[in-house]
Amino acid sequence: MNHFELRGGELHCEDVPLKALADAVGTPVYVYSSATLERHYLVLRDALTGAGLRDPLIAFAVKANSNVAVLATLARLGCGADVVSEGEIRRALAAGVPPERIVFSGVGKTAREIAFALDAGIAEINVESEPELRLVDAIARDKGRRAAIAIRVNPDVEAGGHAKISTGKADNKFGVSFAEAERLYANASNMAGLKPLGVACHIGSQITDLAPMAAAFAKMRGLVERLRAEGLSVERLDLGGGLGVPYFNQPEPPSPADYAAMIAGVTQGLDVQFAFEPGRMIAANAGVLLARVLHVNERPEGRRFLVLDAAMNDLLRPAMYDAYHDIRPVAPRPGAPLAYDVVGPVCETGDTFTRDRLLPPLEAGDLVAFMSAGAYGAAMSSEYNSRPLAPEVLVKGADYAVVRPRPTYDEMLAREQPAPWLEPA
Ligand code: LLP
Repeated sequence: MNHFELRGGELHCEDVPLKALADAVGTPVYVYSSATLERHYLVLRDALTGAGLRDPLIAFAVKANSNVAVLATLARLGCGADVVSEGEIRRALAAGVPPERIVFSGVGKTAREIAFALDAGIAEINVESEPELRLVDAIARDKGRRAAIAIRVNPDVEAGGHAKISTGKADNKFGVSFAEAERLYANASNMAGLKPLGVACHIGSQITDLAPMAAAFAKMRGLVERLRAEGLSVERLDLGGGLGVPYFNQPEPPSPADYAAMIAGVTQGLDVQFAFEPGRMIAANAGVLLARVLHVNERPEGRRFLVLDAAMNDLLRPAMYDAYHDIRPVAPRPGAPLAYDVVGPVCETGDTFTRDRLLPPLEAGDLVAFMSAGAYGAAMSSEYNSRPLAPEVLVKGADYAVVRPRPTYDEMLAREQPAPWLEPA
């Protein structure tokens, strides 16, 4: 469920009419619903605790939506953060996420990032390889510290979904095999700079079938049991993120309750603290990208192009993954639907959001909303074609706040400087 609804023939976010918001802030613009973010977090938390999982750490995957106001909205409910860079650690801390609720993932952490994470006191570094294990140990010893780590395992399961976002197969770059994990965990317990806390996995994203997750989690349980049988302490089991969301025409994903029940079943009797790294299921349907129609270009040969002021630099998912986003007119006009090719102004054919999409009739100046754009939307945007980053707006009830303003052209240019030999004489 989300809080984007037609009221009086006009799309609203909570109690804010999106047309008025777009007129005030301009387009393209990302709009997030606080109530939806909060609801998704609470539904997941209640499902997990309701299934009997003890005090789970829910660490929102900051990569999905890294706006500090979004992170702060979740942090106020007790949500933690799963981060993959120093930038994301800084964002999470700025949003008020306590370091003991931050998990640091990623295959290529730099020495500087690891040192920063240790100084910040973050809860768990998910180590993805043997060289990284040695690096974390060395940096922690240098500081006279013991780094709390988890070993990230690659459970070698096929989770379905788009190849570019599948992470749990043995030929993906993520994590180590089960055999390696056992060896590294035992080694880590003898390293002065490390405190092995547990094991972690994440098998992919937009997963709509529980079976591959259940298979992976059962293997993770086996690993915990084998490590304990060797006399090693395993306090935490991090099961990653990946639960899919409904993108309108796609398979209905499992509910958080079904997900939680599956986990409770697979891990029954295993006394661990669970951690989760959900991104999409919390943020996707809590955000839309609003765009305005620049032209309707009807070709005599038949194609009808809807040219928007939003482009692939604002919302990359369709160009990158052929992702489907529902597109809704903000104030739908009456009339039979027409087939549109929805495109942006960027100079490449890939800047096509969808082809032959049936939409109510649209005219220049109308507004449309790309639904389910709260995850991997603004976070993946760029200034390609020197288009300023779309601003981000957070709605709460009848209020809204611009939480990332649109940069001015002066700000954009001020980040660059001429090479000395190019200075005017
Ligand atoms: N944990 C780790 C280690 C991850 O790599 C990811 C996502 C997550 C958690 C969160 O997964 P989620 O719950 O959001 O599925 N840009 C792509 C998605 C890339 C996901 C990468 N890793 C997209 O737009 O579909």
